[in-house]
Amino acid sequence: MNILITGGAGFIGSHVVRKFVNKHKDYNIYNLDALTYAGNLENLKDIDDKPNYNFIKGDIVDANFINKIFTKYKFDGVVHLAAESHVDRSITDPLAFVRTNIIGTVNLLNAARDLWKDSYGQKRFYHVSTDEVYGSLGDEGLFLETTAYDPNSPYSASKASSDHFVRAYGETYGLPYVISNCSNNYGPNHFPEKLIPLFINNIIENKPLPVYGDGKYTRDWLYVIDHAIAIDLVYHKGENHETYNIGGFNEWQNIDLVKLLCRQMDLKLGRTKGTSEKLITYVKDRPGHDLRYAIDASKINKEFGWRPSVTFEEGLERTIDWFLSNEEWLNNVTTGGYQEYYQKMYS
Ligand code: NAD
Ligand code: DAU
Repeated sequence: MNILITGGAGFIGSHVVRKFVNKHKDYNIYNLDALTYAGNLENLKDIDDKPNYNFIKGDIVDANFINKIFTKYKFDGVVHLAAESHVDRSITDPLAFVRTNIIGTVNLLNAARDLWKDSYGQKRFYHVSTDEVYGSLGDEGLFLETTAYDPNSPYSASKASSDHFVRAYGETYGLPYVISNCSNNYGPNHFPEKLIPLFINNIIENKPLPVYGDGKYTRDWLYVIDHAIAIDLVYHKGENHETYNIGGFNEWQNIDLVKLLCRQMDLKLGRTKGTSEKLITYVKDRPGHDLRYAIDASKINKEFGWRPSVTFEEGLERTIDWFLSNEEWLNNVTTGGYQEYYQKMYS
């Protein structure tokens, strides 16, 4: 089996590549990644010499290149994670999200359809998506697989569009696909532009913690390794043309999460209780900020017995420990372009 994993040098992708390479030794895993600011081969240094692991540098927006690698490697399956993934960046540069998330996905769909159309057999196109496509919840309710799409940011609109294209290729060309929509991930290798790793880095550096608006926005957090386990299950056990919601059963208002993070960081850094909380700074809100996300993950729980393996407190502690013992990784990703981004976003 030749399996293509796109975006495998990124945060979630690197954990998925590691899971597939280590668990499925009879598969040849091809990690295709453009190595944008978010892609980092350091994330995979523990497995890059494994005989069933291969890296291909390339851009999913380049249709000719995508067709060539499908012809050359004759992939039996695709796990598609490559994307522009940060909501704030989508507000300043929506077209980058249209290119990678929509055009890039359609290029992959075309190549898979053309290679597989004479015998779909056991082939599978797995599209990894987000709960943000469902829009925003009020105080009550959960996102179900049947919840209508209602995206509010350029990022979520581009992911919603890519989901629709995947479904349309299933209906129109019979392409065998599965989709999963997951809540907020956190854990090792998380790029420090997203809430948790950004705030860990800022606490280490004694910098302000920029909480958007009143901090009462709610997210449902899942440890990234549990997402990788779920992706492996959905890839192997999911029904064709089905969607699976994946979530942490773990809702937190931002401000409560930030206070917990501050308390854990003070302990880890040997700082006096309350030191990090003093860094909390309320800043201008994100435009179009979704109030609340929360996933009903009962379908994947009932069908495959999946549920998160760690509590949030454990996962957060493991994450903090990882960042504190991978100072070089953090320094490497927070130099150069990161500083410019940070100035533009937060000055
Ligand atoms: P990430 O930004 O950390 O990684 C994205 C990866 O894709 C990077 O390695 C990057 O180099 C690569 N990439 C970007 N553009 C590319 C292109 N044009 N061609 C080839 N490679 C390209 O993202 P992530 O947080 O790991 O998210 C991975 C996927 O999971 C995305 O599809 C995202 O929408 C989805 N998702 C993320 C979360 C989350 O909380 N992070 C939750 C649910 C779903
Ligand atoms: O729900 C899944 C999605 O989760 C994924 O599809 C996205 O790729 C991923 O980036 C994430 O989106 P969010 O916008 O929810 O994540 P982010 O870490 O950017 O923000 C989490 C919350 O924290 C959100 O309410 C905004 C707030 N926030 C974020 C940043 C970066 C702040 O208050 N301050 C900040 O500086």
